[in-house]
Amino acid sequence: MGEKIACLNLGQQPLANKFLTQKEVDKTLPGEDIGMYNLEYQYDIDTHLFSMINQPPKEDMFNNTYPYDSSGSQIMVEHFKTIANKINKDYVLKIPNDPFLSTIPNHSTDKINKNILEIGSNNGPFISNIDDRANRIAVEPCDNFAQITNDMGIPTYNKFWNKELSYEIMSDHGLMDVVYAANCMCHISDIKEAFYAVRSILNNNGVFIFEDPYLLDMLNLCSYDSLYDEHFSMFSIHSLTKLLNSVGLYINKIEHLDVHGGSIRIYTSCSNKNIDISIDKFMHTESLMGINKPITYKLFGEKVNNHRILLLNILEEQKSLGKKIISYGATSKSTTIFNYCGIGPDIIDYITDTTVAKQDKYSPGVHIPIISPEEGLTESVGSIFLGAWNFADYIMDKEKDYAINKKWIINVPFPRIV
Ligand code: TYD
Repeated sequence: MGEKIACLNLGQQPLANKFLTQKEVDKTLPGEDIGMYNLEYQYDIDTHLFSMINQPPKEDMFNNTYPYDSSGSQIMVEHFKTIANKINKDYVLKIPNDPFLSTIPNHSTDKINKNILEIGSNNGPFISNIDDRANRIAVEPCDNFAQITNDMGIPTYNKFWNKELSYEIMSDHGLMDVVYAANCMCHISDIKEAFYAVRSILNNNGVFIFEDPYLLDMLNLCSYDSLYDEHFSMFSIHSLTKLLNSVGLYINKIEHLDVHGGSIRIYTSCSNKNIDISIDKFMHTESLMGINKPITYKLFGEKVNNHRILLLNILEEQKSLGKKIISYGATSKSTTIFNYCGIGPDIIDYITDTTVAKQDKYSPGVHIPIISPEEGLTESVGSIFLGAWNFADYIMDKEKDYAINKKWIINVPFPRIV
């Protein structure tokens, strides 16, 4: 590891998904939640990795109270169904070198001799859509979610992904033909070991496909709220190329995805043959945008500070109009913003969220109450901060009648009223 430059300090932060009950709020002062830590990022000049300096213990973040539900929005359900169907068609059902059949017919009831592993399976929106004639295996450290996929009949290892676990799964099931992970690799602090563990369990002809938020999108959108305890790294293609190659994996293709404010899906294998043109394109754009230059990260830090001042000005102005300001979506992203900017219930009256597990709780650190949209979307509201801005089009369309005489406040790519 080479020289590292500390470039962004988002101050004392709570665990982004640690919503508090009424009882907990009664005995905790704002900013004194259990597990508060300093959220700071650095850029490594040698590896190009943008990562957190000190991550809170993983057991504090991912356990049986983890509330983030991948199946919580229709958009994400569709997203996982689509990629599962594509993987079924391109890898699971594919018969290599068969002159008559290209894929296994749908009407066949025979078992398919393929092993598919998902790392970080949450409550199963991806793995449950993989053809059940194949051998499906899941890894999920949060007990509550592991139980759900186990109950679906998918053997789920309720553990954190690492070398030891990959050996354990290998001895139980053999090598994997497909390994898939969504919004998971960026959570792992020893990322080199995590990739090594994937390489170890992967069949020589197998594929490892993973998707995570994209550093270039975060820099371009100044979406610093995508940074919180769980997001140890934000990947660029430059950093991934080095990391993956060091464990014998090669990027074969890259897709850009709109989800989570801009993500990348990386197709890798043990072969450096079949290299798609997309890789050159991504590398070129990243170089043009200065992704390898320390000054880029220094400027990002300054821009984030300016955004805080702008947002606070907007909120203050809206508050002076005398109507309620609420936040739409109790997201991890809004935890970062509210704690970094010092926005509490004196500014945001409450947050609405459709997730039942978050309702009647309080947002981490700043303790803003969370209620259901049915209760919270009332006429006394003057402006709505869009905490779930990654669903902006969907939400603003869904709420167009309700919001007709109200203002939306959006923080990306810069704080503004729309
Ligand atoms: P998400 O954007 O996945 O957030 P993060 O990764 O930052 O935690 O979560 C979106 C949150 O917004 C989730 O708690 C559900 C909520 N939500 C609504 O309340 N209404 C909606 O229409 C949508 C799409 C999401």
